[in-house]
Amino acid sequence: MARISDIEKAATLLRAGRLVAFPTETVYGLGADAEDPDAVARIFRAKGRPPSHPLIVHIGGAENLGDWVEDVPATARLLAERFWPGPLTLVLRRGRRVSLAATGGLETVAVRVPDHPVALALLAAFGGGVAAPSANRFGSVSPTTASHVRAELGDAVDFVLDGGSCGVGVESTIVDATGDVPTILRPGGVTREDLEAALGRPLAVPSASRVRVPGQHPSHYAPRARVVLVEPEKVVAEAELAQELGHRVGVFLPPSFADAEVKAHAAVEVPGSMAEYARGLYGFLRELDRQGCDLIVASLPAQEGLGLAIANRLHRAAGPRPSA
Ligand code: TXA
Ligand code: MG
Repeated sequence: MARISDIEKAATLLRAGRLVAFPTETVYGLGADAEDPDAVARIFRAKGRPPSHPLIVHIGGAENLGDWVEDVPATARLLAERFWPGPLTLVLRRGRRVSLAATGGLETVAVRVPDHPVALALLAAFGGGVAAPSANRFGSVSPTTASHVRAELGDAVDFVLDGGSCGVGVESTIVDATGDVPTILRPGGVTREDLEAALGRPLAVPSASRVRVPGQHPSHYAPRARVVLVEPEKVVAEAELAQELGHRVGVFLPPSFADAEVKAHAAVEVPGSMAEYARGLYGFLRELDRQGCDLIVASLPAQEGLGLAIANRLHRAAGPRPSA
């Protein structure tokens, strides 16, 4: 676990324009000073991410929001007060402090206050905004432990703050709050139902397979193994067929799928609850890669609550890959 001296070291590195990976409640972030274009450029190099793909600016508290965005509409204020610190990112009009490098040239900026003691201590010690994408190579599975980050980014990151495993396990929900009607750009740790209850009105959600945020390739959150999505009742047959064809198969089922036949397969994950599913998703995808699985057969959970974010990530993981 990170100590006070680690937090101070990390804040000093950020001030010097270096890269620091840090835990949040969702996934680990790869952070740099949001006001320093050279530091932000380092993030894109370390990830191998196209520079047009905007980052999230992490700040220490909702009361600082006005420092980072041009204006704060009433809806954004309400959502910030209700859900921060927490897994909600608000897209608003960019304030002048945020470097255009961090927004990929956009005049809007994505902002959030993470709900993790190490992240909040880092933001307090640093004092500024920290631009941070998930701390993985572009297109691959997000890290939920410090060792995931070290294994994937190695020397490309100057320092890794260890805060244990992430409690939520999928990224933040991104809401575009620039207009009169807020829209969900990416489902995540705050559920649609909770947002709708706070706003008192229904919210449109992008279909799981449709790309809504700028610069994203269809395949994202992807392990090395190919991911195929099938109906729950077809999982066994599909996995068995693939095994007969010589594949090393991993199986992913929604919570409470108590099929003994399926559990007889080698690498099967049947989480006990949706929260457990979200928390374990990326670690399990990484573990299947480590075991040398070349095919993952998965069935989507019901698209409600956290199931919406999980289904979105599985869809993206199963999306067409860039030709190698
Ligand atoms: O939970 C999270 O959100 C994690 C932790 C580290 O905070 N971060 C994360 O960052 O998932 P990243 O870079 O992997 O995903 C950020 C997403 C991207 O899909 C990007 O397109 C979108 O946020 N985004 C950033 N700025 C935007 C903007 N101005 N308008 C629309 N989408 C934006
Ligand atoms: Mg990411």
